[in-house]
Amino acid sequence: MSALPGSAEGTAVTGLDSSPVDASPETLAALPPLTEQTRLEAREIMARYPVPRSALLPMLHLVQSVQGYVSPEGVTLCAEELGLTKAEVGAVATFYTMYKRRPTGRHIVSVCTNTLCSVLGGQRIMDALSADLGVHHDETTADGSITLEHAECLAACDYAPVVTVDYEFYDQQDVDSARELVAALRRGEKPLPTRGAPLTDFKGISRQLAGFSQHADAAAARAAVDAPSALGPTLVGLKLAEERGESAPAMPRRSAPAPDTQQPAATVAPSGRTGETPGKEAADARVAAADTPAERAGAAASHPDAPEPAGRRLPDGREGTDTPAGQEPGTSGQGPAGPPPADTGRRIEGRTPPRRKG
Ligand code: FES
Repeated sequence: MSALPGSAEGTAVTGLDSSPVDASPETLAALPPLTEQTRLEAREIMARYPVPRSALLPMLHLVQSVQGYVSPEGVTLCAEELGLTKAEVGAVATFYTMYKRRPTGRHIVSVCTNTLCSVLGGQRIMDALSADLGVHHDETTADGSITLEHAECLAACDYAPVVTVDYEFYDQQDVDSARELVAALRRGEKPLPTRGAPLTDFKGISRQLAGFSQHADAAAARAAVDAPSALGPTLVGLKLAEERGESAPAMPRRSAPAPDTQQPAATVAPSGRTGETPGKEAADARVAAADTPAERAGAAASHPDAPEPAGRRLPDGREGTDTPAGQEPGTSGQGPAGPPPADTGRRIEGRTPPRRKG
């Protein structure tokens, strides 16, 4: 079954048709076409993976590098090349926020409004840019220069408040610096990020994410990789600890240490038995007090005497999977050949087994 963009079914399943932009023939007609070259590059991406459908994520970036978003045409191309339904491609494209569901501006400005950035001014930055640009989250300015979005943690909390442009970092921003940054972008300038590669644009970085260089030549690509980094705020805690002579406490040992004169002497347990450390005694008590088999199994697994979990062993003694490559359920979509597995009657205690659909 295939849920086609444009159909009610497609809208419900993929969400790809929720944008009025998608429905506009003028907008679709104005998009740069996906060419034979795009298709060849998609196949080049597929060739990098043992299971072709693993290539879907970079292929979606490739589509964005041409058309600026995951268009219905892009969904079709990915589905055709990978032998998937459009609904399957749409399900992936609508799961990740880096895949855009409507045409984007030349640059995507992401403002972190997650907790740390927010308390340090991230929400004020978002509000100011929104007012200046006349757009809200996930909207694009009329001149097509900027798509504004808020983001939930850009993984640079030590540089808060953080703004990214096309996923390049502009650290420790405030309202004024963010306004200047966006004004420069609208003038067509590309201010250098605080760290990392120089700024290009959304289509350029999408091409990079698809696994192709966005740079004109090898020297430019090398310069981008060698661009300066910054570690200052990341290392503040470490430097403070060094100055104060502090160090992290040792991790507790899971298994009993080897005999050592430095180790504390064996204790006498309330049971009268000797040779048990207080940790073992407590672990014994946790196992004894467990109410359910699941709790008992959990307590036993964390007991100091519990053996290290063994890797999964195949009948021939090797560790690893015995599912042939390309047939792993949930990766190839095919699963192992043959009839569905018989109901073994295994039940997780306390859970009602799922009902089979009609
Ligand atoms: S909270 Fe903003 S980068 Fe993590």
